[in-house]
Parts: sequence; structure tokens; C-alpha cells
Amino acid sequence: MASQERFGFKWTTCPQLFLDDTYQEHVHRWLTPLEFKDFKGKTVLDAGCGPGRISYFLLKAGARVTAFDYDPRTVELCRRNLELFPHKEIQYLSIYDIPWKNCFDIAISTGVIHHLKDQPLAVKKLVEATKPGGSVLVWLYGREHNGWIIYFINPIRFITSRLPITWTNFISYFFSVALYCRSHYLPSRSPYMELLKKCNFSRIHELVFDHLLPRIAKYYRKDEAIELLKNAGLENVQVYPVNNNSWSVIGTKPKMEGRRNTKKEKDNGK
Ligand SMILES: C[S@@+](CC[C@H](N)C(=O)[O-])C[C@H]1O[C@@H](n2cnc3c(N)ncnc32)[C@H](O)[C@@H]1O
Repeated sequence: MASQERFGFKWTTCPQLFLDDTYQEHVHRWLTPLEFKDFKGKTVLDAGCGPGRISYFLLKAGARVTAFDYDPRTVELCRRNLELFPHKEIQYLSIYDIPWKNCFDIAISTGVIHHLKDQPLAVKKLVEATKPGGSVLVWLYGREHNGWIIYFINPIRFITSRLPITWTNFISYFFSVALYCRSHYLPSRSPYMELLKKCNFSRIHELVFDHLLPRIAKYYRKDEAIELLKNAGLENVQVYPVNNNSWSVIGTKPKMEGRRNTKKEKDNGK
């Protein structure tokens, strides 16, 4: 079963969007340094949209959103979850096959790139879809402060990502109980644990299942995260720590490229 199909199964186990304040805070952090108000009136591409939980907040903020995912069940779910919003388009598409060129003010992809085989190509496609002067923002797992995941969870994931997905789901309940108890009943000064403390058990299970199901999960060092976007041709690349365990990385597509494209288009008689 391909990674996107395994995620597709996961979404069917938790089809709801968890649209409470805690969830909004999760999404808000993943989109650092952008605020929801920055999306107002913008054309936005949400690559690997899942059930539409990021798109939901962007649409609510007044963006026009094109969202896509590479699993048909997930796309259906996303369509249902966002059906009340007029300014959206939801497609079944792989990030590698993005057809748009210079179309969007902002392209985002949260929690997707680090699960892909060809991560630089995926970011390159996001950049191509973005207008010159527009922004590309990706949220990536971080390497720093995640030693316990690398040394403890990764070996477990090596097994759970190869098991039938229903088994992985079952196993993830044991870890979810442990994480739920850790976050709810033991003291912690970590802002992430504070956020988890506000989450109900379904949400904790969703997070744990998410970690145990994919075969590929790259944990980026800060410099690798910056390089990923720079190598795709973005400038002013900024990286922000999220929850002390991940990175939000944002860059601007150079305006020059737009002018070169325009010249190329002119040369082609367009
Ligand atoms: C961890 S989920 C993140 C979903 C969403 N961005 C969010 O933050 O809620 C990863 C998603 O990437 C999708 N995905 C995997 N491979 C993909 C590809 N090649 N093109 C587009 N989406 C893909 C999966 O189907 C899954 O829904």
C-alpha cells in the first residue's frame, strides 16, 4: 500500500476536522510566520491537502484555495469537509504532476514533503506554481530536539509502516494512551506538551498514527530545511522553529524569473 493510501485509511478513521481552538492553534503554528489574515484575498495552493484542515482555515480567512491530494478517498473527504465554501477547487493530483505555472500568491504544503521520495522535485513544482514575488511555505519535521523519535520511534516505524494498516492503527492506540497520559497527567514545561494537554484522545491518536504509518519520514536539520528551499530557486528563505520539534520554512519566488518567463513567452510568440 502506497504512503498516500495509508494516509487515506487514516483519514477515514478520523474524518472530522477537529475545528476547535486547539486545532486552530496547531495550524497557526505550522503556518508561521504567516497569520491567517495574510491569506485574505490571496490565491493559495494547498499541496497534499489531506481532509482539508489547513484549507478550511485559509478559506475562512478569505483566501481562494486550490487544494489537491494523491489519494481519491482523501480528496472525497476534503470535498465533503469544504463543501460550504464557494472559493475552492479540490483535485486528485500528485505533487510531482502540478500543472500550474506562475499562478498562486502562496503555495503551502504542511506535513507532506518529508514523506515523499523526491523532496527537491516536490518543492520545485511548488515554486513553479507560484507567481513571481509570491511565497512558498512548507512545514517539515525537525531533526533537532527529536532524538527520541529518531532512536526510539523510527525503528518502531520501520516495522509499523510495513504492517497491514489496520494493525498499525491498532498498535498506535497503545502509544496514544502513553502520550495521552504523559501530556495530561505529568508536568511539563514544553509548549508542545501544553498544546497536547488540550487535545482529546482522538486527536492524540491521530498524531501518533500519523507517525507510525509512513515508510518515509525525513527529519530535517535547520540548514537542510533552508537548503531545500534555496535549491529550488527561492530567495529570502527564512526558517522558524515550530513546537521545538519541526520547521516552518518560507521563501519568495524571485521576480526576475517572472521577467525571464515573460521574455521566453514573447520569444515563443505568446
Ligand atoms: C501527513 S498528511 C498532511 C495533510 C495536510 N497537509 C495536513 O497538514 O493536514 C500527508 C498527505 O500527503 C498526501 N500525499 C502523499 N503523497 C502525495 C503526493 N505525491 N502528492 C500529493 N499528496 C500526497 C497524503 O495522501 C496525505 O493526505
